[in-house]
Amino acid sequence: MINYTEKIPNNVDLGRDRVLQRALEHWQPAYLSWWYDMGPNESHNFEVYLRTATSVEPDGWAQFDYVKMPEYRWGIFLQPRDEKRQVNFGIHKGQPAWQDVPGEYRSILRRIIVTQGDTEPASVEQQKMLGLSCPSLYDLRNIFQVNVEEGRHLWAMVYLLHRYFGRDGREEAESLLARRSGDTDNPRILGAFNEPTPDWLAFYMFTFFTDRDGKFQLCALAESGFDPLARTCRFMLTEEAHHMFVGESGVSRIIQRTCDVMKENKIDAPADVRALGVIDLQTIQRYLNFHYSVTLDLYGSDVSSNAANYYTSGLKGRFRETKLEDDHTLRDAMYPVSEVVGNKINTKQVPALTALNERLRDDYIEEIQAGVNRWQRVIDEAGIAFRLTLPHKGFHREIGNFTGHFISTTGEILTEEQWKAHEFEWLPSPKDYSYVQSLMSGRVAELGKFANWIAPPVKGVNGQPLDFQYVRFN
Ligand SMILES: [Fe+2]
Ligand SMILES: [Fe+2]
Repeated sequence: MINYTEKIPNNVDLGRDRVLQRALEHWQPAYLSWWYDMGPNESHNFEVYLRTATSVEPDGWAQFDYVKMPEYRWGIFLQPRDEKRQVNFGIHKGQPAWQDVPGEYRSILRRIIVTQGDTEPASVEQQKMLGLSCPSLYDLRNIFQVNVEEGRHLWAMVYLLHRYFGRDGREEAESLLARRSGDTDNPRILGAFNEPTPDWLAFYMFTFFTDRDGKFQLCALAESGFDPLARTCRFMLTEEAHHMFVGESGVSRIIQRTCDVMKENKIDAPADVRALGVIDLQTIQRYLNFHYSVTLDLYGSDVSSNAANYYTSGLKGRFRETKLEDDHTLRDAMYPVSEVVGNKINTKQVPALTALNERLRDDYIEEIQAGVNRWQRVIDEAGIAFRLTLPHKGFHREIGNFTGHFISTTGEILTEEQWKAHEFEWLPSPKDYSYVQSLMSGRVAELGKFANWIAPPVKGVNGQPLDFQYVRFN
């Protein structure tokens, strides 16, 4: 169980380590002032029907109650330790999992933890304004749930920094509160976390695509030979699943509503669809293209010696490493990556060790494709002839082998001029954004009411009805 009697709830026996406890209690007010500043706008007095973890067991999630978000019990929860756990891959395979940071890997590990940690507050910052234009109380409650859990993910990484990295760790923990998403002088570390999330369609796309990158990164780190990192990430994954649900069901409900309106009114042209105040499927496709392509960049270069080092050292594994059947050292294995040669996209085999970013990206794409197929079913069931597709992997990429090339959504290599001529067939234009935002000019806050552009969900939260008071505004 988690000890809630302490100032910082935890299951790591924080009370026995006074120095660490004091360091974290010092960071806590700085965190709260970041939350007041960069957390959901004007929300500090709201009482929100939130779930809070009370234990790290699968059934420890049943705790739902009204909470003011600044009073949320952010804490430090690690999956229980398995005494027999080993390093499961790389050159240290078979050694007992590390309970302390191996000296030689200290700076790499710190960088891995800081890079992951930086994404957590970033997404809260990106979503700061969305509460003002929520489509329902149900959705408002869901975004707040995502936000407090991203806050807790930051706590999870900061705990590791404070506990295992001494003074450097404390400095990094402070910097995590100082960077700001989209800031020109002190931006967040990774590109996708500096993009604005200007409306609810972007929010659902972000939680579907970008939180799922979070899932895959956490899965790879949950395999780490550094046991405290693995145990932290395992628990974070249970929270991540909810974020992806919010994204997938959100987009699905928007598609549902659009299809219902198209069918009822026997219309098809985007302009006619927009005239009825819902989001045309073409615009949904353009948002999808944008979020997919910027998220693919988060996996890094196709061929990367850093990725090889992380693996060989036993610090970051593959997706489902321990379920894979091979030597877990990848000494002789090869893996295909794409490259642009002249005006063709070729596939070439490279040592699998160097292609681990690409492999994780491919695992991710497989899961994304399955989700897009589920969205497609909504369209098919409405009998509408429209196909949602994932663009080509090389489309709109800024990291890796496709960088600097102008590739269409179907994979043709174009000149910059040709590409620009099609840009807004493929990516949301300023007009698309302003149309979508025009639908979301205010908050829909009546009990059980949903904005015109989105269908209600199948069921409420924790068995509550759809007209439940998910948020009290006070
Ligand atoms: Fe997160
Ligand atoms: Fe998340």
